[in-house]
Amino acid sequence: MHIDLLSHSTFVGGQPHDQFAWLREHDPVHWHEEPGGRGFWAVTRFDDVWAVDRDFTNFSSEPTIMIADQIGNGGLGPYKMMLMMDPPEHTAFRKLIRSEFTLPSAKLRGERIAQLARQIVDAVIRKGECDFVADVAGEMPSFVIAELMGLPLDDGRELYKLTETIHTSPEALPPGAGAEAVGRMFAYGSGVIAEKRARPGDDLASKLLACEVDGRRLEDPEFLLFFLLLVDAGGDTTRNLLSGGLLALMAEPEKLAWLRADIPGRLAAAREELLRWTSPVIYMRRTARREVELAGKRIREGDKVVMYFGSANRDPAKFERPDRLDLARDPNEHIAFGTGPHGCLGQHIARIEIDAMLAEVLARMDGFELAAEPEWLPSNFISGPKSMPVRFRAAA
Ligand code: HEM
Repeated sequence: MHIDLLSHSTFVGGQPHDQFAWLREHDPVHWHEEPGGRGFWAVTRFDDVWAVDRDFTNFSSEPTIMIADQIGNGGLGPYKMMLMMDPPEHTAFRKLIRSEFTLPSAKLRGERIAQLARQIVDAVIRKGECDFVADVAGEMPSFVIAELMGLPLDDGRELYKLTETIHTSPEALPPGAGAEAVGRMFAYGSGVIAEKRARPGDDLASKLLACEVDGRRLEDPEFLLFFLLLVDAGGDTTRNLLSGGLLALMAEPEKLAWLRADIPGRLAAAREELLRWTSPVIYMRRTARREVELAGKRIREGDKVVMYFGSANRDPAKFERPDRLDLARDPNEHIAFGTGPHGCLGQHIARIEIDAMLAEVLARMDGFELAAEPEWLPSNFISGPKSMPVRFRAAA
């Protein structure tokens, strides 16, 4: 089996489940060459991915969670994003925003999120045709992050376009486009700093600017990195779950009909299965702090260790008939949100967004068919369609 988990073309039709299956069976901690880099270990079994993600003593999130070393913090010198810190530093930063993302806090946003879902479907329902990614799935996370940060909804949409560029593999972009997108995000974030310092509101951006870490206020670059992380982490992940999820349902119309027949009763289990199935975050990387053994392989200090969530989520040792989309799957302990100290902070909000959007779409839109082949995001990091033209009719 030819293994290539680097080239973005490997991911253009979804995740490479044939390669993942071969690796899980024959070489679950696989040494992967990296042109221009030192190479990395590709970890593909559920138990190993789980163990690495929780073991921050041996596997560090520094200097970066991307495979390529040079993708750092967008030129902000020594400052780091929380996603690329280890405890105890990471714990102190995560604590600053944790309370906004608990289940009770997320639930408080439920009604507003349902209203946004209605608004999003209202805007397309009479058209009979739309790009499901841009017009439906992408709208929800853009609006939610804008509301969370106290920004105009339209700005959320613009910021989200930048995250898409940031997540695209550099070789699929014009030279410098990724760095330019990060620069524009920071320029916008600097405007937010000025605006929220002058007129603080009851939003996360104002709270971040007012809070303290180690007895001091956050510095501007620290705020900008939080801003980038929050906009980045919740955008095309949620969008790709919604678009990739609908695509999976369209491929099996009897399952779509089954879900539609009892949305309130069946949606929670179906949503977890769609998370397992699509696994929008392809990987997170760690770096070994010392020599350590993993599934019989000797990992050297400084080696890159890459956890493939989409592969872990199809591991037959963990999931019965993993290649079957089972909307009622129970138990379903997938790892689409990661685990351990960095486990997705936004997962409660994400679940509420997904449920609101799917419920609205399935109740009001019917007869989905593809109007053109979906175009996949050219990325080895985030998986999902970048555009998905669909035809539909308003449900009777
Ligand atoms: C379907 C949607 C989503 C998926 C699949 C997803 C997945 C993930 C994954 C895999 C991680 C890394 C976990 C690890 O290293 O173990 C992560 C981290 C994170 N996510 Fe999400 N995410 C989603 C939505 C969101 C949303 C809506 C937000 C915020 C509004 C968010 C905020 C974050 C943050 C802040 C982190 C970093 C946590 C840390 O470093 O401590 N995510 N997410």
